Amino acid sequence: MNEKKVLFTIFGGTGDLAQRKLYPSLFRLYRKGDLVESFAVIGTARRPWTNEKYRDIIKETIAGLEPTTEEAEAFASHFYYQSHDVQDTEHYNTLKKLSDELDAKYQLEGNRLFYLAMSPNFFGTIVSHLKTQGMLDVNGYHRVIIEKPFGTDYETAHQLNQEIAQVFQEEDIYRIDHYLGKEMIQNISAIRFANSIFESLWSNRHIDNIQINIAEDLGVEERGGYYDKSGALKDMVQNHILQILSLLAMEPPVAFSEKEIRAEKIKALEAVRVYTPEEVSKNFVRGQYSAGDFDNKTFAGYKEELNVDPDSKTETFVAGKFLIDNFRWSGVPFYVRTGKRLTEKGTRINVVFKQVPVNVFKDSVGATCEQEVLEPNVLTIYIQPTEGFSLSLNGKEVGQGFNMLPIRLEHRNSAEIIENTPEAYEKLMLDALNGDSTNFTHWAEVAQSWRIVDTIRQTWDKASTEVPQYPARSMGPKEAYDLLAKDGFEWIWTPDEWYRERGLLK
Ligand code: BG6
Repeated sequence: MNEKKVLFTIFGGTGDLAQRKLYPSLFRLYRKGDLVESFAVIGTARRPWTNEKYRDIIKETIAGLEPTTEEAEAFASHFYYQSHDVQDTEHYNTLKKLSDELDAKYQLEGNRLFYLAMSPNFFGTIVSHLKTQGMLDVNGYHRVIIEKPFGTDYETAHQLNQEIAQVFQEEDIYRIDHYLGKEMIQNISAIRFANSIFESLWSNRHIDNIQINIAEDLGVEERGGYYDKSGALKDMVQNHILQILSLLAMEPPVAFSEKEIRAEKIKALEAVRVYTPEEVSKNFVRGQYSAGDFDNKTFAGYKEELNVDPDSKTETFVAGKFLIDNFRWSGVPFYVRTGKRLTEKGTRINVVFKQVPVNVFKDSVGATCEQEVLEPNVLTIYIQPTEGFSLSLNGKEVGQGFNMLPIRLEHRNSAEIIENTPEAYEKLMLDALNGDSTNFTHWAEVAQSWRIVDTIRQTWDKASTEVPQYPARSMGPKEAYDLLAKDGFEWIWTPDEWYRERGLLK
């Protein structure tokens, strides 16, 4: 029996994240038997909803998972709504009373999991009230899950962390980076540490460069207000991209445990070079999408989006080169690229291996075409929307002569497997229930990530240059290509070329 006894209290219970991700994830855990009878959920937000209204919403949010009416009713009956002003001390007393009642009713043994899924401005206030108003004065575990963004720079993150640390121990703080719950991100460790052919080549002796891409085809949608203050650097690089980089760059842990993995990830991040302003200008480029045509549709530019300043200088695209100053990685560029309104949605990693020392096929007898340069071997990890790996090799073209032909060994998870893969949030919620914070970010990781991106942000904020524009649905501004070209490399993933060749992208 793996039933978890717990009271969830979700701050931001009416919000988009709760509705899109948290409630369906809880329902999946319910279906799988991780949550059975002994659990209750309190949803809080300012709106004056009733329990009935809240439960109707819960049922709507899980409709896509096709529960039976009885199943949906039974699940929703565990949900309680409490209208709550996070700054009003009195309201926490009401919340405590309800929590204690539910604890007794469902026999939750005092286990409490608080989920902060609302504006980060209030995180500090909420956690300090949890303590002062006695919500943690019960036996059982007390954990807090915190949504991103964790601060807006190192200073604010540090202050927030101090506020939280006065109430919760580090091991009870679960800072979410939902990429760490993705199946193929977790697979990075499997590829590296379960395959000697890769781990033995995993260093500057054999790898030329590594490319991390997180491309989104969507624009900012209805999140213009938040995004215009954040930009791609803080929204994606500070967290998801640097987390992926740390998994790729870390040393093999002595055991696959939370403690050991974290220690190695922290060390990897601490070896990432924190740039001077000059280095930032050389190694990082930004971009902002302008209007563009794709597949007979016209997409608006960023400045025309809802709740975005028409003179905005916020970047919707970042490409850059990170350097890691340690024995393993010295000299290997880690190129990163992320943006909104790019050609295609896709997260993929390309590990580009060094060329053979001598190309013996260059002038081979019978070669019919130029083969001055061989294609590099590339290991690609497909994170989403498809999941899998591929390895490109050079083979001999069938027939007379000795022409090289790039071939690709591929494995992709089937649609059925992808369909049945637990959602990132589902996995992360279960991890938090199990007290396993391996797939959450430790304060030392967050702190170092902010130090790394802060200098980039500050350099850009001081720059008088215009933000380079790129047409919606292209793969970013020219500067992003120049960045690699000046090192003699190129982006391996070029979906824009595919669409351009078919006349879908001008
Ligand atoms: C979030 C960002 O952290 O990640 C969003 O705030 C972004 O701007 C999202 O769209 C991407 O997540 P996913 O899982 O769709 O790749």
